[in-house]
Amino acid sequence: MQIHSSILDLRAALKTRSRIVFVPTMGNLHDGHISLMTQARAHGDTVVASIFVNRLQFGPNEDFDKYPRTFQADCDKLAAAGVDVLFAPTEADLYPEPQEYTVEPPDIQNILDGEFRPGHFRGVATVVLKLFNIVQPQVALFGKKDYQQLMVIRNMARQLALPIQIIGGETVRADDGLALSSRNGYLSATERTEAPRLHRLLVQIRDSLRAGNTAYAELERAATAELGQAGWKTDYVAVRQQSDLKPPSGGKQALVVLAASRLGNTRLIDNIEV
Ligand code: PAF
Repeated sequence: MQIHSSILDLRAALKTRSRIVFVPTMGNLHDGHISLMTQARAHGDTVVASIFVNRLQFGPNEDFDKYPRTFQADCDKLAAAGVDVLFAPTEADLYPEPQEYTVEPPDIQNILDGEFRPGHFRGVATVVLKLFNIVQPQVALFGKKDYQQLMVIRNMARQLALPIQIIGGETVRADDGLALSSRNGYLSATERTEAPRLHRLLVQIRDSLRAGNTAYAELERAATAELGQAGWKTDYVAVRQQSDLKPPSGGKQALVVLAASRLGNTRLIDNIEV
């Protein structure tokens, strides 16, 4: 696996490569990331991954400084997964001057996670567009665990006519249902035992919706209450339309249930399609 940190070197290395498939990450790779790398292979000839902890998408009181950085272990996993090229820029490589030109996503950036993480999706869209311009892939893969992020990127690619196919990879879970996430590493042993409750509740809501229940607000309220009793602090549990993440407007709209809740100091997100 080739590793490049400078934009110029990466561009030179990719110049003669055909059909590039790209998986951007912030590192601390787990099986969810590796599953995207493996899927990537089926979509093109050259698999490029990136590792960059993007300051722009973290709020002032969030975990940018303590976000786990495990570069050598990540390189070993990427090489074993058959990744061809890793782009691992420093902040000085990617942001040599303050990033004043940014991508401003529309209203979707202010709902759900965006309501609780102001500016987050601006930071994500900006770095992803910049990475797309550097890597120039034909295909890019993102995990469905970050459902709203995937939608922001999909919509950005479509509306800005980027010649890139965006593919969503299924969430990879531990045996007890907990969605794999780099932030799971922050959980204490007791919290780790409690953490699968979030997925269990989403499954219950999904099953209830499938059975015809349309009392969305009551389902959201009951799940939030159960989380509260178990010591969680919930930002949202929300039944939304898959198409635009707005509340269900009736009819045969496909739905998704999304949640973000804090267990101790760890904020976990998850979702389930109905
Ligand atoms: O999902 C992530 O890891 C990040 O948000 C991404 C897409 C790599 C942008 O920094």
